[in-house]
Amino acid sequence: MSKNNNRKNEHVSLSEKFYPEGDTSFKDISFIHHSLPECDVRDVSLASTLGNLHFTSPFFINAMSGGSKWTGKVNEKLAIIARETDLAIATGSVSAALKDPAQSESFQIVRKTNPNGLIFANLGAGHGLENAKRAVDLLNADALQIHLNAPQEIVMPEGDREFSQWIENVRSIVEGLKIPVIVKEVGFGMSRETIDLLDSIGVTLIDVSGKGGTNFAQIENYRRKDFKLDDFEAWGQSTVVSLLEAQESKTRASIIASGGIRRPMEIVKASALGASISGLSSQIMHMALDDVDETIVSLTSWKEEIKRIMTLLGAKKIEDLKHTDLMITGDSSEWCDNRDIN
Ligand code: FNR
Repeated sequence: MSKNNNRKNEHVSLSEKFYPEGDTSFKDISFIHHSLPECDVRDVSLASTLGNLHFTSPFFINAMSGGSKWTGKVNEKLAIIARETDLAIATGSVSAALKDPAQSESFQIVRKTNPNGLIFANLGAGHGLENAKRAVDLLNADALQIHLNAPQEIVMPEGDREFSQWIENVRSIVEGLKIPVIVKEVGFGMSRETIDLLDSIGVTLIDVSGKGGTNFAQIENYRRKDFKLDDFEAWGQSTVVSLLEAQESKTRASIIASGGIRRPMEIVKASALGASISGLSSQIMHMALDDVDETIVSLTSWKEEIKRIMTLLGAKKIEDLKHTDLMITGDSSEWCDNRDIN
């Protein structure tokens, strides 16, 4: 097995080993209860949009798997879940397949299993337009995610050390691809400055993917054999802070929330903080590795739970959640004070 394929297996198994269970930044967000909701459960629609992409739920399965035989099997499970629950799904970075066509099947299984589903391909910002087109073709993808993961690369023993070309790569991909491009972090969050910069080069779909869930500094640090880089494990902005930063930015891009989202209430909170949709990775991986059928039942019941929360908030549409009354406390409130966020 090549080093690259082994890394893909390690990422999945280590994300399970370090699966985060405790509180996240979402504990800093409380909805203010009003006793007379002007809404009935049957009035609530979960339909969500990102540009021209239309979803039946305000959450999707975010990038994780593929690039080895085992992660291909994991992708098949995730694709079955996506198909049966009508959730959009992103594959993990397809760069392994661009380097070694023998790995293509571990990604294409997602399209094969879920021929009519919304599928996103994924590639790092170190790649240019040609590879972006190859990535889209590989899956007949509906959108392409470009990931920004500088802290992960820095801690990764075999990671990239050159990042200066990334912005030009992203610009050329956004300009040159005919399908939507989502630029995403991988669990380190985003600042308003990053979001404004992405906006200035034409990016219209941004996944802030913040701290609080999968921690790639921790995963890569564990994989290091020589010296450890412990301090990087606390690097980055939480998902809540990243969403607040996005609200403060000048961008008109649609915002996607991810990073530590594990429950229906957190999906609703993310939408109340401006997210059009939420991406879930480790939580769905955790459920899928345990039992695919049960995951389908649980995720189906999540949709009902989201509707009930929205009813209490008087929100008939996902967009309406942006106008709900909420309280920000704790570290997230302190961040707002220090960064002049109102
Ligand atoms: C990821 N993530 C990821 N992101 C990406 O853009 N390309 C990738 O190839 C991967 N690979 C990957 C593997 C595994 C096993 C996990 C758990 C995650 C990052 C992911 O899409 C997301 O941004 C973060 O994991 C934060 O979300 P969660 O896991 O806290 O829900």
